[in-house]
Amino acid sequence: MSNRKRTVLVTGGMGGLGESICTKLADLGYTVVTTYSPGSSKAVGWLAEMKERGYHFHAYALDVGDTDACASVISQIEKDVAPIDVLVNNAGITRDMTFKKMTKVDWDAVLNTNLNSVYNTCKPVVDGMVERGWGRVINVSSVNGQKGAFGQTNYAAAKAGMHGFTKSLALEVARKGVTVNTISPGYIGTKMVTAIPQDILDSKILPQIPVGRLGKPEEVAGLIVYLASDEAAFVTGANIAINGGQHMS
Ligand code: CAA
Repeated sequence: MSNRKRTVLVTGGMGGLGESICTKLADLGYTVVTTYSPGSSKAVGWLAEMKERGYHFHAYALDVGDTDACASVISQIEKDVAPIDVLVNNAGITRDMTFKKMTKVDWDAVLNTNLNSVYNTCKPVVDGMVERGWGRVINVSSVNGQKGAFGQTNYAAAKAGMHGFTKSLALEVARKGVTVNTISPGYIGTKMVTAIPQDILDSKILPQIPVGRLGKPEEVAGLIVYLASDEAAFVTGANIAINGGQHMS
C-alpha cells in the first residue's frame, strides 16, 4: 500500500444509508466513489448539495445487477480515480409482498440487485486487492436475511445468500490482507423503512425492537468505518448485527 489516500466504492451511495456511509468515510479522509441507479434523476442535485456541504464525491451511473456494466464502470473508476481499496456493497431494493402475490419478475429483480450485484462488483476489484495485499469488502445485508420477514421471501433470500458469499470469499482471501464481512442492519430510519405502511411499522415492527426506536444511518456508517479500518484486520467472515436487539443470534 502506497501513501495514497484509500479509495472506497459505495454502491447506492445516494440513498439514506449510502449518504451517511459516504460522508463519514470522506470525513475520515477516504476518496469516495459512489454509484447510482442509471434511471435516477437524483444524481446532479445530490452532488451539488454534497458539494455545498464540502464533499467532492465521484459518482457513476451503474446498474449493479448488470455484470458487464459493473466490469466496465469499475475499470473506468480505477482509471479515473484510483484502485478500489474498500468496496461497500450497499445498493439494494425491496419488492415486498406475500409469496402468494410474488411474480418471477419481483423475485428476479430483488435477487439480481441485492445478490448478483455482489458477484458483479467483487469480480472486478478483489484480484487487485489481493495483488496489493490489502482490501476490505463490506456487504450490507439485513436482519431479515438472518430471521426472515413477512412479505420478504425475495429480499430475505438475497440477504441470506450474501452472507454465504461473504464467508466463502473471506476464506479464499484471508491470507492476502483482504477481509470480507457482512453487516446486518435492522430497521433504520431511511426511505426503505418509512415506505412500510405506518400501521404495520407501529403494530408489527417497532414493538419487536428492544431499544424502542429505529436505527440511525450514522450508527450503521460507524460500523462500516470500523470494518474498513486497519484495526479490523482480524475480523473476517463475520456477520455483525446492528439491530437494536431485534434479533440476537
Ligand atoms: N407479521 C405478521 N403479520 C403481518 C405482518 C407481519 N410483519 N405484516 C402484515 N401482516 C398481516 C396483516 O396484519 C394482515 O393480517 P389480517 O389479514 O389478519 O389483517 C395480513 O398479514 C395481510 O397484511 P397486509 O394487508 O399488509 O397485506 P398486503 O399484501 O397489503 O401487504 C406487505 C403485505 C407488503 C408484506 C406489508 O404487510 C408490508 O409492507 N409489511 C412490511 C414488510 C417489511 O417489514 N419490509 C421491510 C422493509 S425495510 C427493509 O427491508 C430494510 C431492512 O433490511 C430491515
